[in-house]
Amino acid sequence: MAIHAVTGAFGFTGRYITKRLLDAGETVITLTNSPDRPSPFRGKIAAHPFRFDDVDAMAKSLAGVDVLYNTYWVRFNRAGSFNHSEAVRNTRALFDAAKAAGVGRIVHVSITNADESSPLEYVRGKGSLERLLRESGMSYAVVRPAVLFGPEDILINNIAWALRRFPVFAVFGDGRYHIRPVYVDDLAELMIERGKATDDGIVDALGPEDFSYRELVAMIRDTLGLTRPIIGIPPLLGYWACLAVGKLVGDVFVTREEIEGLTAGTLHVAGAAPAGKTSLSAWVKMHKETIGKHYHGEMQRRTNRNKAYESMTG
Ligand SMILES: NC(=O)c1ccc[n+]([C@@H]2O[C@H](COP(=O)([O-])OP(=O)(O)OC[C@H]3O[C@@H](n4cnc5c(N)ncnc54)[C@H](OP(=O)(O)O)[C@@H]3O)[C@@H](O)[C@H]2O)c1
Repeated sequence: MAIHAVTGAFGFTGRYITKRLLDAGETVITLTNSPDRPSPFRGKIAAHPFRFDDVDAMAKSLAGVDVLYNTYWVRFNRAGSFNHSEAVRNTRALFDAAKAAGVGRIVHVSITNADESSPLEYVRGKGSLERLLRESGMSYAVVRPAVLFGPEDILINNIAWALRRFPVFAVFGDGRYHIRPVYVDDLAELMIERGKATDDGIVDALGPEDFSYRELVAMIRDTLGLTRPIIGIPPLLGYWACLAVGKLVGDVFVTREEIEGLTAGTLHVAGAAPAGKTSLSAWVKMHKETIGKHYHGEMQRRTNRNKAYESMTG
């Protein structure tokens, strides 16, 4: 029987990978920054703290593991707390520990259009991790999602939250840049499938629907039965508005880099075959009573490690 290590099993993507593996009768352990976070899996799987400062210690936690599913990353730079360059170093330490422990295969979550030469630090960091993995000599698979949706997601839920709360919704620029959101459990299914395979390589993980950003916001608005006007404003003005919203909710609502990535089409790959069947529009319809009722905060997740991620399904 194989042993699987899932990073962040008490978080978002890791939760769905873990559930699928446990449902299939597999043995799972997790590496996490939040071993005490409430989760349905607490007590069912062994939880080891990440030891990015000590590769040998982290290798001991990974002893006997056949497949490592790596979801670890940080969304943005936060002075004094976390940043992308540290996340690259930490991930390198994780890969080194996996190699030292003799882990059979790594399935790593990246991002659409990951590229070491990107001007965006998030995308650049993901690009350099893909290279590290390629050069590691280990058996690997990389999956590249665009934006994820699911009960605990942040972006889609918070678009719905803003639509419910404010009389008007502003998109950055003309809103014509495209995005193909993928359902978190479809990503988990793909990752497990890639974990079983033996070929090395990179696959995009995009949902079946292709929206312009403006269409996506309009679809959510219409499904919620709202009539807010959707207007285009200059991206910089949009960023300032998001700063103000962030102050209101005590969070980072969206970063300047995320706006740049979104408007440059980084979350889109034209013509890529869909990785999952779940359509965002059907999913929003199914959850129209709950989606966006509560704000989902990134910083709250990072500062309170003893609290479960907010979920629109309770
Ligand atoms: N969410 C999206 O829409 C999206 C879109 C494209 C790509 N991705 C990629 O998908 C992967 C999983 O994303 P997710 O949203 O599902 O993440 P998540 O479950 O919230 O976090 C994944 C792991 O990273 C750790 N982590 C996250 N932010 C951190 C921070 N600031 N400082 C320290 N540790 C941190 C978590 O820590 P704990 O162990 O404490 O939980 C967990 O182990 C990431 O690699 C991300 O880049 C996500």
